[in-house]
Amino acid sequence: MNAVVTGGASGIGAAVAARIVAQGGNVLVADLREPASGLPYVRTDVTDPAQVQAAFDEAEQRFGSVDRAVLSAGLATTMGRTPETVDLEVWQTLLGVNVGGIIHGVRAATPAIRRAGGGGIVALASLAGLTPAVGDPLYSTTKFAVVGLVRTLGPQLAGEGITINAVCPGFVDTPMVDPLREAFSANGFPLIPVATVVDTILGALDPSGGSGECWLIQPGHAPAPYRFRGVPGAVAGGDAALPVPPAATEVTV
Ligand SMILES: NC(=O)c1ccc[n+]([C@@H]2O[C@H](COP(=O)([O-])OP(=O)(O)OC[C@H]3O[C@@H](n4cnc5c(N)ncnc54)[C@H](O)[C@@H]3O)[C@@H](O)[C@H]2O)c1
Repeated sequence: MNAVVTGGASGIGAAVAARIVAQGGNVLVADLREPASGLPYVRTDVTDPAQVQAAFDEAEQRFGSVDRAVLSAGLATTMGRTPETVDLEVWQTLLGVNVGGIIHGVRAATPAIRRAGGGGIVALASLAGLTPAVGDPLYSTTKFAVVGLVRTLGPQLAGEGITINAVCPGFVDTPMVDPLREAFSANGFPLIPVATVVDTILGALDPSGGSGECWLIQPGHAPAPYRFRGVPGAVAGGDAALPVPPAATEVTV
């Protein structure tokens, strides 16, 4: 397994990178910060498509091929803000990292994995991409976008032997939750162990598994693909024989 892990210098990304290497795989970390792990690293701002491409190129050169991508770079910087109150620069950066970073990651990963003969991509979305994140509508917006991308691309890429899935955890025990850590602890709210998220990511990266799935992880529940409710297909003038454009019909994953 030869992987690129964006956001691999901290939290979930660092833990996934360590696990892949422990299992005998290769990892290149693409992050703004150098990882303490000492793993191969290309300084990468995921908001810049050229830098993301350069990281995948470097990994392909080093390892011979790239067959896995974990897109974990992310920010949570708009807590308590709304479209009215957010500093627009903060919003643009959040959008650039949480959505742009995933698009650029998929754009670079897909042809590399195709050249490798198949593989898997996992994008870090969030519980906030499946249900409203009360108090952080902007973060929620970015994570719903990731869920939309993965669900739409999943069936398309699966035909080429490339799977793409999202992982959607509630609050995970990483530096990202530090601002809320005391409140969680005071209220006895359980954080999800990083190892649980890593287990789920590795399962979702397996190209023999599903594609377009959004793995929900919540304390006290076994991680599982979220079951979306179906959206009714279009009905044209009561003539059941008329074709319905597939895009208008819910694909249940
Ligand atoms: N921790 C949680 O509770 C939680 C819950 C659900 C989803 N997530 C998502 O999981 C992912 C990983 O979160 P985490 O908890 O490991 O956070 P973290 O803060 O520990 O790590 C995020 C990493 O992303 C990197 N990063 C930030 N901006 C970047 C940029 N422009 N270019 C490259 N790298 C950049 C950081 O340097 C850092 O190493 C994020 O997408 C986050 O939204 C986290």
